[in-house]
Amino acid sequence: MEKAVEPKKTFEGNYIENFSDKKDGEFYPSSIANFYQDGQAFYFEAGDTTLELKVYSEKIIRFRYANFELFEDDFSYGVDDNFQPEKVAIDFKEEPEHFLVATPEVKCLISKKDLRTKILNKDNQVIQEDEKGYHWMEEKSFGGNVVISTKKLQQGENFYGLGDKPGNLNLRGKVQQLWGTDFYGFQKDSDPIYKNIPFYLGLHHNIGYGLFMDNTFRSFFDFGKERQNVYSFWAQGGEMRYYFIYGPDLLDVCRSFTTITGKPELPPMWALGYHQSKWSYYPEKVVRDLGSKFRKKKIPCDVIHLDIDYMDGFRCFTWNKDHFPDPANMIGDLAAKGFKTVVIVDPGIKIDKDYWVYKEGIKHDYFCKGADGSNFRGSVWPGLCHFPDFTNPEVRTWWSGLFEGLVNEGVVGVWNDMNEPAVFEEGTFPFHVRHDYDGHPCSHRKAHNVYGMQMAKATYMGQKKFLDNKRPFNITRSAYAGVQRYACVWTGDNVATWEHLKIANRQCQRLSVSGISFAGSDVGGFIESSDGELYTRWIQMATFHPFFRTHSSGDHGDKEPWTFGEKYEKIVKKYIEFRYQLLPHLYTAFWQYATYGTPIIRSLHMLNQVDSDTYHRKEEFAMGDNILVCPISSPGAEGRWLYLPKETWYNFWTDELLTDAGEVWVDAPLEIIPFFVKAGAVLALNPVMHYVGEFPVAQLNLHVYHGTVENKSTLYEDKGDGYEYKDQDFKLKQFSFSGEKKSLTLKQEVEGNYNTSYNTYLMTFHGVVFEPRALSVDGEPVNFKFDKAAKTCVAEVKHDFTELVLS
Ligand code: NOJ
Repeated sequence: MEKAVEPKKTFEGNYIENFSDKKDGEFYPSSIANFYQDGQAFYFEAGDTTLELKVYSEKIIRFRYANFELFEDDFSYGVDDNFQPEKVAIDFKEEPEHFLVATPEVKCLISKKDLRTKILNKDNQVIQEDEKGYHWMEEKSFGGNVVISTKKLQQGENFYGLGDKPGNLNLRGKVQQLWGTDFYGFQKDSDPIYKNIPFYLGLHHNIGYGLFMDNTFRSFFDFGKERQNVYSFWAQGGEMRYYFIYGPDLLDVCRSFTTITGKPELPPMWALGYHQSKWSYYPEKVVRDLGSKFRKKKIPCDVIHLDIDYMDGFRCFTWNKDHFPDPANMIGDLAAKGFKTVVIVDPGIKIDKDYWVYKEGIKHDYFCKGADGSNFRGSVWPGLCHFPDFTNPEVRTWWSGLFEGLVNEGVVGVWNDMNEPAVFEEGTFPFHVRHDYDGHPCSHRKAHNVYGMQMAKATYMGQKKFLDNKRPFNITRSAYAGVQRYACVWTGDNVATWEHLKIANRQCQRLSVSGISFAGSDVGGFIESSDGELYTRWIQMATFHPFFRTHSSGDHGDKEPWTFGEKYEKIVKKYIEFRYQLLPHLYTAFWQYATYGTPIIRSLHMLNQVDSDTYHRKEEFAMGDNILVCPISSPGAEGRWLYLPKETWYNFWTDELLTDAGEVWVDAPLEIIPFFVKAGAVLALNPVMHYVGEFPVAQLNLHVYHGTVENKSTLYEDKGDGYEYKDQDFKLKQFSFSGEKKSLTLKQEVEGNYNTSYNTYLMTFHGVVFEPRALSVDGEPVNFKFDKAAKTCVAEVKHDFTELVLS
């Protein structure tokens, strides 16, 4: 018989064996000897271990395990300050074998015998179950514990997530490590690389869930490699602390993960345009010529990145005055042509008694120290350097202040590099280096995985301080969970090979479901030279990746849209133009990400998680709602096999209809990337422009795809910069489509006060298989042109219509 439990603070003595079990050097909790409740937190004491189980929402539960009752201070770099527990109706019971903590969505059983947990949904299906559960091992090399959790692998379970890992999307059977590493020329299964995102998604029996292990020590995830029916994760220090997130929808799991770790603000719209970079464009004339060439050739481009050679001897916050005698003038002239200038900064501050940043750092004691108390020294581009301790809030404030000069000169974006942190020869800092860790002093073993994120935060603070209410653009190579609050990311030093085009695609998809949608790769490959075909195919793919930048080491020739000759330039230009046409769609997807945490790009298993044929697919992905692409990833291809999830799709280029097609062959000569739009969708496209804001859009193109379906589409618009959107200065449009065989109805609901620059839509209805007799817009007849052969119907329609019927 179950009985309700009165919360109690003290142990009443009904339990035995109040000590930890030790097996083969592993220590385990013993039976539960005491428990108590404090609001939505429940404590279970089992030998040397105490479990704190805290309910944050009906679907989010946090587990923390302390040894000897020593919980760490409840501090986290990963968790967003706004994340607070919601009030939840909790059912807490003692049952013969276990305790039960239940929310309306999940039930967690905690075994009295050994503290192991089992989580079920309200249909009593097991979501996740401990195998050995929490335990720990003593590690003599650092005189502390490795904290471990092992879980039973459920039948047919698959795993996704974990940030920038370059291997297959599906992590089943893999071991992965999180220890941010500068990995020049990483390869398919290289591990660890730059980013540290200890968050994975699990999927079995159509049940999706997620787990975020919020621990910044070097950590590991084994998804059934060592033992096929078990998966585990562990960290080389700290406490075992993780958030369990129930879906069951995988996209909801991603959304909840950003409820915990935070959402980004909207970026300036120009940051979603095309970026051009190289290591390095200098001197000034080269940069100016680059800009002029884009404009002369009418290839759109918004952003030019300046790599380390703009600096004086690689000293951050300085200019090489031989190469850039008057930066403000150059940046101003570029801005007049629509270009925004982004500059790189590195954490290594040159040891140079005449360098002001170094002098300030020394004066205020802002550099990381070794255990012996002296400032740690390491070699990077400028030679020997000290490194600011970005985990110290005072240091972050100081660093943020250093951007005043650059911003005054017109710099509007910053690129944070080498912040794993990277040190030549040694790789990174030695373990004994000390960090403040926001008032929780520790060694580099604990701070390493968050160092880069805190540098990105400090840079972001600087931009916020000086950009005068303009939105920052900030990019970082290293990251910990939650970095999306401060910066976007790129995937580091990849190689110009077809294999790397595939890797880049997987990394962007994986980052997107790991909270970091705003991600891109060095288009065309950083190392080595690509040929025109590879570059063109990569540009086509990156047109659909949220961050779109060509960057290369410059050691193996140039990579600009015109580098590979006219044949390729023409196609590359067409795709960069198309990116600008897609901006209303991409910006809307960004708004959904910033508002709800919905990933901008979504892997196939996210579109149809019941379909097991999607579980191992790697290349197809959706960008926002309603569109799906699949890059061409091998040379000489004239087309490819790809998988379309159940639903009716239009081939964007031909309007061919594909219903429940599954695996299909799609023609894709060099000018074509396979690209599909869902029936019932409304796709908003801009006219081609050469940079964001080149001219006000006089008419917006709305493409409506007919089908006997119902579907909803969203369009979000605002000024594209500034923060007035937080004060109702936006337009949010919801289109509801419903189609019959011989008619279609489109309803529009509008919210917000923003005045769009256009008053009409140019509407193109695709797949009009019937002969339309009338188009009625809010009850009034409107002229239209029907092309029977193309099955399209075109009409100019007022932008604020409520209901439109084509029949
Ligand atoms: C390493 C970065 O990954 C790369 O993008 C950059 O060009 C070089 N550092 C030089 O700054």
